[in-house]
Amino acid sequence: MIDGKNMNEEMRPEIPEREPERQYYFMELAKGFLSEYSERLKHPATYHITTFGCQMNARDSEKLAGILETIGFVPGQSEETADFVIFNTCTVRDNADQRLYGRLGHLKGERYRHPERIIALCGCLMQEPTAVARIKKSYPQVDIIFGTHNIYKLAELFCLYAQEGSRVTDILPEAERIVEDIPSVRKYPFKSGVNISFGCDNFCSYCIVPYVRGRERSREPKDILREIERLTEDGVIEVMLLGQNVNSYGKGLSDPVTFPALLREIAQIEKLKRIRFMTSHPKDLSEDLIRVIRDHPKICRHLHLPLQSGSSRILTAMNRHYTKESYLALAMRLRQEIPELAITTDIIVGFPGETEADVDDTLDVIRQVQFDGAFTFIYSKRANTPAAEMPDQVPKEESRVQFDRVLSAVQEASRERAALRTGKIEEVLIEEISDHDPSYVSGRLSSNLVVHVPGGEELIGTIVRARLSECHGFYYIGERRES
Ligand code: SAH
Ligand code: SF4
Ligand code: F3S
Repeated sequence: MIDGKNMNEEMRPEIPEREPERQYYFMELAKGFLSEYSERLKHPATYHITTFGCQMNARDSEKLAGILETIGFVPGQSEETADFVIFNTCTVRDNADQRLYGRLGHLKGERYRHPERIIALCGCLMQEPTAVARIKKSYPQVDIIFGTHNIYKLAELFCLYAQEGSRVTDILPEAERIVEDIPSVRKYPFKSGVNISFGCDNFCSYCIVPYVRGRERSREPKDILREIERLTEDGVIEVMLLGQNVNSYGKGLSDPVTFPALLREIAQIEKLKRIRFMTSHPKDLSEDLIRVIRDHPKICRHLHLPLQSGSSRILTAMNRHYTKESYLALAMRLRQEIPELAITTDIIVGFPGETEADVDDTLDVIRQVQFDGAFTFIYSKRANTPAAEMPDQVPKEESRVQFDRVLSAVQEASRERAALRTGKIEEVLIEEISDHDPSYVSGRLSSNLVVHVPGGEELIGTIVRARLSECHGFYYIGERRES
């Protein structure tokens, strides 16, 4: 549904119906609108994308940037100064929503200084009708609103806006299709996210993602393999396979494929050096996956395996389909088969009905598994999810107390796990000049741990060997070793 008039297709009979051809047509058409826009601005129009939320959104933003650069926009410095500003939103917790409203409020005043600015909102929050209604009412400076299912249509929406001069809204309630071959601009030349599936069918009772990202859809293996091959031709040596639950990849395909089978094929790509993936749902992690990781050194020694809670009672209420005992058994199996594997997790504190005894169970799992890292969140009530209607919502002050207990347990465990590598020699993929000291570069181990080693720009994007000499809790200072 598009508010305002549609591009007049009768007057433009040449508009292709098929995707992505249609979008390439609009990218060409947009070039004309862009030069008019740049003339009015009296400088080449710039863009800036602010991304909230997870890796899915980060990857979507790379596609948005790809479309804008194909049209001819040039990267701008910041959301305050750029001409075309996009906010790619997240709504997984309430604080993500609040951050967006804060930023939009701030830009309200800017409007007078930069009347030609175009502001676009997209992403998960836009799939919530109440949020869209609020934005339409209270933020007149927003020009283009679109959702998670039509990211690929940015050029078409920009043309429509340029033609109409009034706000354009285009939000689909469900995904209609997967559109392949949209251009993208990567943040790093040597690594890239690659979507393998979209959406989620798990409906964990606290989570809004299935509502804003739609039903689970897997990409065809041939499309994934072709994309990764092209990326490696272009210098990429590490990919991060992305899906809300990668372990259920392939189920809905006409020719079903399992995630381990996909990994085996990807591992054959010669120029690819490292494969990462996230997220793994514990209920769907198979023995076959454990074998594939174990047998393919290219698959990174890191598994993100969200626990959410260590209490079986709470896990049932969360609709997670595993128990404390089955999670522990799985983690122990992984530790036994692949001892060098880093296991990280997500934990929610303050789910409705959670007591101190439930948190004790979570602490017990943390101590037994010894997570290499964990993201800990305070439960946030999301409208229209089953958990929002549950009795015994936990007061924030109580959650804070429990949160602190969980946080110190995960910090202690991950510090101990990190320290175990002291003195080892491991490979580091160098990513950037170190923030702290420009004579150092920073990179990641296969386990995802950050290491800083002496060196310069020429090392970025290469894999070096380093001795992990000083452990600083969550990162190492290393010394380079010749291979
Ligand atoms: N698909 C992934 C995670 C997606 S969201 C998975 O299943 O693991 C990332 C994390 O946000 C979740 O793992 C969960 O820990 C947290 N999260 C999701 N909904 C939340 C909510 N309502 N309140 C607090 N944390 C939440
Ligand atoms: Fe949300 Fe659960 Fe799906 Fe993860 S698996 S996105 S937590 S519903
Ligand atoms: Fe947020 Fe959407 Fe990701 S709600 S966590 S950006 S899938």
